[in-house]
Amino acid sequence: MKNASNTARDSFGSSFGVLVALAGSAVGLGNLWRFPYLVGQNGGAAFIIIYLAFVLLIGIPILLAEFIIGRRSQASARAAFQALAPGGHWGIAGVLAVLCCTLILSFYSVVGGWGVEYLVKAFRFDFSSMDNESLKNLFSAFSTSTWRPLLYHTVFLGMTAGIVIGGVKNGIEKFSKVMMPLLFLIMIGIAIRSLTLPGAEAGVDYLFKPDWSKVTSGTFLAALGQAFFSLSLGSGMVITYGSYVKKDANIVSLGTQTAVADTVFALIAGCAIMPAVFAFGISPGEGPGLVFITLPHIFSQLPLGGVIAILFFFALLLAALTSAISVLEVIVAFCMEEFKIKRGLAVSLVFLVIWALGCLCSLSQGVLADWKVLGKNIFDLFDYLSANVLMLIGGLVVVVFVGWKLGRKQMRDELTNGGTLRLPNWFIDTLLFLLRFLAPAAILIIAIFQVSE
Ligand code: PHE
Repeated sequence: MKNASNTARDSFGSSFGVLVALAGSAVGLGNLWRFPYLVGQNGGAAFIIIYLAFVLLIGIPILLAEFIIGRRSQASARAAFQALAPGGHWGIAGVLAVLCCTLILSFYSVVGGWGVEYLVKAFRFDFSSMDNESLKNLFSAFSTSTWRPLLYHTVFLGMTAGIVIGGVKNGIEKFSKVMMPLLFLIMIGIAIRSLTLPGAEAGVDYLFKPDWSKVTSGTFLAALGQAFFSLSLGSGMVITYGSYVKKDANIVSLGTQTAVADTVFALIAGCAIMPAVFAFGISPGEGPGLVFITLPHIFSQLPLGGVIAILFFFALLLAALTSAISVLEVIVAFCMEEFKIKRGLAVSLVFLVIWALGCLCSLSQGVLADWKVLGKNIFDLFDYLSANVLMLIGGLVVVVFVGWKLGRKQMRDELTNGGTLRLPNWFIDTLLFLLRFLAPAAILIIAIFQVSE
């Protein structure tokens, strides 16, 4: 298939580069911040097993479907649909994906900024000798204040833009190649420290021995939502990165490896956090404050805790950055292709918009707390609209588009690189079944539950 746009497109240099960039996008605050607190709130191992089943049966198929759209069209989110189905209205899904990324990056950058602030605090050994209550107050005083969170949001977004301006190969790929292995090593180190604490077994049991009595319909909703968020599905990310992947790369193995890497990271984060939580007798169900309140509390009591705090918040920042650059790239690629502008200009314009929206998100924790839409402040509204509404719509359109519109022949053609790679028939048939029936049914059920909540 011909290039959908006439301009020369950037692309990834090597398959390792593609893999780390994709894994970099998937592994982020979703793994280090959201996954552990959801596990804690939803009863541990049972949640993890349901989550794993969703990743396998719904997550990987959608990931491959988005890959098919991106690589086949070699175009950004909206143009990709248009190139594969000219004349239709499918491109609207691409525009929604860009909107979704705009909302995600606005609040993601604020949380990334909190990470920067906590890294600075860790360097100053601020957590040593603080008890849980004072750490709680510290976090709420900081996140509801006006200026400092804005400053750090600006720093985080500036770093993200600085990488994306370098382009795909020289910015995104280069950064991810160094940072992802480093992130992996740091998290493994922290997990080992946590697993060797006296009393860590209770945390291990919590993670791996299911208690099915805790499972409710809410557990399924949370698990599917998390699978979408963590694998960056329905946001145009895999379509956009897929469009930079060479025609001879094996997208089935790239897609599967990405999902495996993301899941392994989530489990490592669980092993880094839960055993320590149990060893110190803290409740695992602390919620979103787990990483910013509970963990510093643990660090303050651990031998070498000051160093571990630095490593942890550094890892959090790396994970958040490699994800934020992928979210920004979806919007930037869209602007470059749709408005025919250069990367530098696109990054600058998008920076300004996201910066302003991010400021609103940040202030909605404090002075703008009373600005509410649908009963939610701006931060929560953006989170809800992106992760619970737009990503699901995006995922639904993708599965219907690939499962029904493109169909078996085009799907097989793209997955096998025009017949050069061998793929058993049962694989294609199963994938088609999951895309045509199981994935849409699951997404619709979740959506109905959410509306009736
Ligand atoms: N998957 C990322 C995380 O887990 C978040 C993300 C969502 C990234 C959508 C890109 C697109 O933090």
